[in-house]
Amino acid sequence: MTEPVVVTGGTGELGRQVVRRLVSAGREVRLVSRRPRPAADHEPYGWATADLMSGDGLRDALAGAGTVVHCAGRHRPGEDVAAARTLLAAAQATAVGHLVSISIVGIDRIPFGYYRGKVEIERAIAGSGVPYTILRTTQFHELLRTILALAARAPVMPVPDLRFQPIDAGAVAARLVELAGSPPEGRVADLGGPETHALTDLARAYLTRTGRRRPILPLRLPGAAVAAFRRGEHLAPDHPTDGPTFVDHLAAVADPRSTRYGGGR
Ligand SMILES: NC(=O)c1ccc[n+]([C@@H]2O[C@H](COP(=O)([O-])OP(=O)(O)OC[C@H]3O[C@@H](n4cnc5c(N)ncnc54)[C@H](OP(=O)(O)O)[C@@H]3O)[C@@H](O)[C@H]2O)c1
Repeated sequence: MTEPVVVTGGTGELGRQVVRRLVSAGREVRLVSRRPRPAADHEPYGWATADLMSGDGLRDALAGAGTVVHCAGRHRPGEDVAAARTLLAAAQATAVGHLVSISIVGIDRIPFGYYRGKVEIERAIAGSGVPYTILRTTQFHELLRTILALAARAPVMPVPDLRFQPIDAGAVAARLVELAGSPPEGRVADLGGPETHALTDLARAYLTRTGRRRPILPLRLPGAAVAAFRRGEHLAPDHPTDGPTFVDHLAAVADPRSTRYGGGR
């Protein structure tokens, strides 16, 4: 296979692990970022500077690509949808053969603005005519650890009384790489982490790892979205990975107190 695999969001928490695994698998890879390639980066992948909001540079970024793995994301749902639509238009124009996109478990069951955007993105992909595969996963260990690091800055640690089934972004990346090497499948089975725990328990594990003592304040938040989380609509109990647990992740991470997330280049 000589066509490059293009990875949008290849500098992000998920995307950089997808890039690493594709390179290890011997694939030709082209990462897409808004930033120019850092002078010190001599890794064996290509780098295309493009903006999914304006579309600048995007057709060149996709030129000759057989497969695109979409890992870029915007925090504002309207921008997230707009970026995906811009990508789809460029993918149509450049005849991309397979778009693999990450999504989130339960987006159609949880009335949360960010998730409504994800539903719109999935529909736009499905209706675009571009052959596609969509994988929904649960929250990444890296995200929950960052949220707990922020909460632990206060003398009393406020933690929503919800359960999570966090998954290692590397395990998600491994599955995306597998899907990128297979024919388009539409939406595939959801993927969740190996264990489900109350966030207060994950907070205790976080405090142990960082050697901090804090009272944990369980928060019972109001609202329909939180009620859906409380029902466990964001969990994938039938589809756990056997990848690293949250405690494994905490043990492996170099700086568990860091509150920086994603875009670590
Ligand atoms: N975090 C989770 O728990 C979780 C769970 C399931 C699914 N997801 C989904 O997975 C995706 C990736 O999440 P993540 O946590 O890896 O995100 P992240 O670390 O915040 O990375 C976001 C990436 O998007 C790129 N990006 C943002 N705006 C862009 C633009 N206008 N043009 C081009 N690239 C742009 C950034 O690249 P540059 O800054 O280099 O341009 C960055 O690499 C998101 O769609 C997210 O919803 C996340």
